[in-house]
Amino acid sequence: VRDVRERRTSSSATGKRRGLVVWLTGLPAAGKTTVAKGLLDDLDARGLVVELLDGDELRRRLSPELGFSPAERERHIARTAWLAGRLARTGAVVLVAVIAPYAEGRRHAREEIEQYAEFVEVHVATPLHVCVERDPKGLYRRAFAGELTDFTGVSAPYERPANPDLSVETTGRAPSESSADVLLYLERTGLVPR
Ligand SMILES: Nc1ncnc2c1ncn2[C@@H]1O[C@H](COP(=O)(O)OP(=O)(O)OP(=O)(O)O)[C@@H](O)[C@H]1O
Ligand SMILES: [Mg+2]
Repeated sequence: VRDVRERRTSSSATGKRRGLVVWLTGLPAAGKTTVAKGLLDDLDARGLVVELLDGDELRRRLSPELGFSPAERERHIARTAWLAGRLARTGAVVLVAVIAPYAEGRRHAREEIEQYAEFVEVHVATPLHVCVERDPKGLYRRAFAGELTDFTGVSAPYERPANPDLSVETTGRAPSESSADVLLYLERTGLVPR
């Protein structure tokens, strides 16, 4: 009988590491991209094969024709989950920094990816008022001015994860502290080697 740790980190008799998807969900400006970039550097420095799929880039490169209606968001999340799962199937660590506002879409993503790899849902749990204050892209300002429809947190819903694997605080903390929380979780669960 293999122990939990072994089961979680190796996929087969070959002993190859099982891949991993770390999905960072949260409101616009919560810090998903910032935390993911810190994590990317940390994991890269450990010699792990790691890739970041970031929301802005995916919107430009993978789903340029899709808007932000619920149905289009669902399609975008399904594509992202498919891509992340396929990459992770190779044994890589895949960081996904995408809002994914609907619990149903996140559940589907987990179901698909768990066929190939480990899946960790991280809620970057920055409260709305802090995100609004940060507003690094000026999008909240435009949404409140009525210039953007379907903007998550203002004119489109964000369903907070009820039961994320990990919830990360960013308010009043340095980005490196927030990404360190994720790294520590991954180490403690044996998903990445110490
Ligand atoms: N502890 C922290 N962790 C992450 N970001 C932080 C933290 N403290 C402050 N910030 C700031 O919050 C902002 C977060 O912006 P970022 O682009 O990472 O958010 P996002 O969740 O990727 O948003 P979007 O959904 O629009 O892509 C950055 O300006 C970052 O410097
Ligand atoms: Mg981002």
